[in-house]
Amino acid sequence: MHDLEFNDEDFGYFRRLLLAQAGITLADHKRQLVYGRLARRVRELGLGSFSAYRDWLKQAGGEELGRVVNALTTNVTAFMREPHHFEFLRSMALPQLEKQHELPLRIWSAGCSSGEEAYSIAMTVAEWRSVHAARILATDIDTDVVERARAGEYPAKLVEVLGAARQKRWLLRGTGASSGKVRVKQLLRDMCVFEQLNLLDAWPMQRQFHVIFCRNVMIYFNEEVRRQLVARFAAQLVPGGYLFIGHSESLHGLSDAFEGCGQTVYRRLP
Ligand SMILES: C[S@@+](CC[C@H](N)C(=O)[O-])C[C@H]1O[C@@H](n2cnc3c(N)ncnc32)[C@H](O)[C@@H]1O
Repeated sequence: MHDLEFNDEDFGYFRRLLLAQAGITLADHKRQLVYGRLARRVRELGLGSFSAYRDWLKQAGGEELGRVVNALTTNVTAFMREPHHFEFLRSMALPQLEKQHELPLRIWSAGCSSGEEAYSIAMTVAEWRSVHAARILATDIDTDVVERARAGEYPAKLVEVLGAARQKRWLLRGTGASSGKVRVKQLLRDMCVFEQLNLLDAWPMQRQFHVIFCRNVMIYFNEEVRRQLVARFAAQLVPGGYLFIGHSESLHGLSDAFEGCGQTVYRRLP
C-alpha cells in the first residue's frame, strides 16, 4: 500500500525523465521500484504526493534532478564479477597490447558503480606487471557511487571473493570504528581516477583507450542508445583495443567495428 499518492502520470513522468537524462528505459514492472526509491525524499521534503514532488523538481532543477537519477540507477556490482574477464585481461589482452603499445596502458571502466570493477582491473594489472602498467579512468553517472568508489572502503564481506592472499596484498583491515571494513591500499587507488560522467553526454577524454569495460550498463538502454554508444566506444578505442561487456549483453547487430574474441569480449578492428 502506498501512503503517498503515486499514479500513472507520476510513473510516466519519472520514466521519461530517466530516459532523457540517463538513456535508461524503465519497464512497466519497475513502478514499485520508482515509488520505493523516491518516497523517502518526497516525505523528507514534507510533500504529500508525487505530483507535488514533480512541481518541486521543476523549480529545484539540477541538484534535485541529480538526486532522482542517483536514486533510480541500479548499482549492483562486485569484486571480480565475471571472473573470466579478468583472466582474459591478464592472459590475453594485456600481453597482446604490451607488444604494440608503450606502458602505461589506458583503461576505462565506464559505468563503474562503487568501484569494485575498477579496483579488480587495477589488481589484475598490478599482479600482471606493476601498479605502473596502466592508468584506469572509472566513471559513472551516479555521484553517490563515484564518491564511494573514491573512498575505496568496503564491508569486509564483499572482498571475501578475492581470497586471503589478494586481500592481504591489496587491502587494509579497518580497526576501531572501521572494524568490519576494508580499505583499498593507496598504491592501487593511485592507479584509478574516478569521475562523474553521463555516457550520453560529450566525453572530455582526449586520448583513446586500450581497454574499455562497459559491463551491465547497456542492458538498461534501448537499442538506439546502445548503437550510438558502441559506435562511440569504437572511436574511443585504439585499433586492436578491447571492449568488455556484461554477461547478458551482445554487440550482435549493433556494430561491425569489432570482432568477437571470447565470452562477451570484443576487439576493435583496424
Ligand atoms: C549494474 S551497474 C554495473 C557496474 C559494473 N560495471 C559491473 O558490471 O559490475 C550499472 C551502472 O551504470 C551506471 N549508469 C547507468 N546509466 C548511465 C549513464 N547514462 N552514464 C553513466 N553511467 C550510467 C549506473 O549508475 C550503475 O552504477
